[in-house]
Amino acid sequence: MQAVKVGLLGLGTVGGGTVSVLSRNAEEIARRAGRGIQISHAAAKEYNAEAITGLDKIETISDDAFAVVDDPEVEIIIELIGGYSPAKELVLAAIENGKHVVTANKALIAVHGNEIFAAAQKKGVTVAFEAAVAGGIPIIKAMREGLAANQIQWAAGIINGTCNFILTEMSEKGRDFNSVLKEAQELGYAEADPSFDVEGIDAAHKLTIIGSIAFGIPLQFEKTYIEGITTIEQQDVIYAAELGYRIKHLGITRKTENGIEMRVHPTLIPHRRLIANVDGVMNAVLVKGDAVGPTLYYGAGAGSEPTASAVIADVIDIVRALTSDPENRVPHLAFQPNELSDTSILPMEEVETAYYLRMQAIDRPGVLAEVTAILGDLGISIEAILQKEPEEGASHVPIIFLTQRVQEKNMNEAIEKIKNLDVIEGDITRIRMEILK
Ligand code: HSE
Repeated sequence: MQAVKVGLLGLGTVGGGTVSVLSRNAEEIARRAGRGIQISHAAAKEYNAEAITGLDKIETISDDAFAVVDDPEVEIIIELIGGYSPAKELVLAAIENGKHVVTANKALIAVHGNEIFAAAQKKGVTVAFEAAVAGGIPIIKAMREGLAANQIQWAAGIINGTCNFILTEMSEKGRDFNSVLKEAQELGYAEADPSFDVEGIDAAHKLTIIGSIAFGIPLQFEKTYIEGITTIEQQDVIYAAELGYRIKHLGITRKTENGIEMRVHPTLIPHRRLIANVDGVMNAVLVKGDAVGPTLYYGAGAGSEPTASAVIADVIDIVRALTSDPENRVPHLAFQPNELSDTSILPMEEVETAYYLRMQAIDRPGVLAEVTAILGDLGISIEAILQKEPEEGASHVPIIFLTQRVQEKNMNEAIEKIKNLDVIEGDITRIRMEILK
């Protein structure tokens, strides 16, 4: 049987990896897919030909991406150019032309996925996006197919390698934020605009997708609560460790009686949890199903060949299903399109979690009582208190509180009141805390 012809948009880090892996593993891939897979037409603005093995097997390479999606010989388009535009126009044009699409573009799927899936549904084609979440970890497949028997209860993941690398280096080597970020950029992990990483936007794109697949709801990026790691200081990492916790940037989605939580923020987790020990640029996602219990998926969340691994697996899936009836393919968001639920996303104010609070207080009798009175009045129970020695000549001392679970709105009120006390100086650092059991 003739090889399936594939069009490739983008020959950067992931595009180059995709060409190399497809070429290196061509024989095994064909045995798995049932047919050969050939990239016949590619488009890229610029690329490093010497770094990509197998480039010579591509029949046509130009800088015209629309020529690739209009190529009548091509059955599958791989979109690896990233960003919203022209990626969205290219993907919609490919669908309109009756081609299947594989993409690693998390921003595109999180923000425009509903529209893209509806268009694909109408045309009877597949849009596959395993590489959009946690790079090489097959988390979409695991949740959509492997855990299909379960009611998913919650999922929590380290889904931005750059943030995890920064927090790991701060905690283990005492390095400062900016120098670690620079290194992540040099390693090729950081987004083109690194604020997407450190402000939590990249992780929120990925969490939006995880939440939809977990609970069968439309993609709702705009309702995801987003906080990055820029407010985390070295001392928080140290104090958290003293209290038996590690700080990780997590994406968390959980089904509650009142709605679905969708939140991305730094989180204290007990150091004995496996996920607390996922370091450097690695990613990990914990998923809890009612039947299976907690499951953990770990691996490289970015990088050339790890991401190519997910891209090519999607291409193989599509090739295997080319002759199947579109109605019988695995649905884009795990649940049948007409079975998506309108369960609401819980506003952050109503989310319940435990907290780490760090504040600077005047070192004199009665100060703690003032703070604990505010917490007590708002029904916030204290789990632990840590007071540090004042620095030489300093009038204020750091005090750290760990609280029990409480609604975010009560904590907001408490923080506002504590901040206004005369005995407290400056801002209060608040980091949410999860047990993840
Ligand atoms: N910038 C992302 C990260 C790359 O650091 O994880 C993969 O999406």
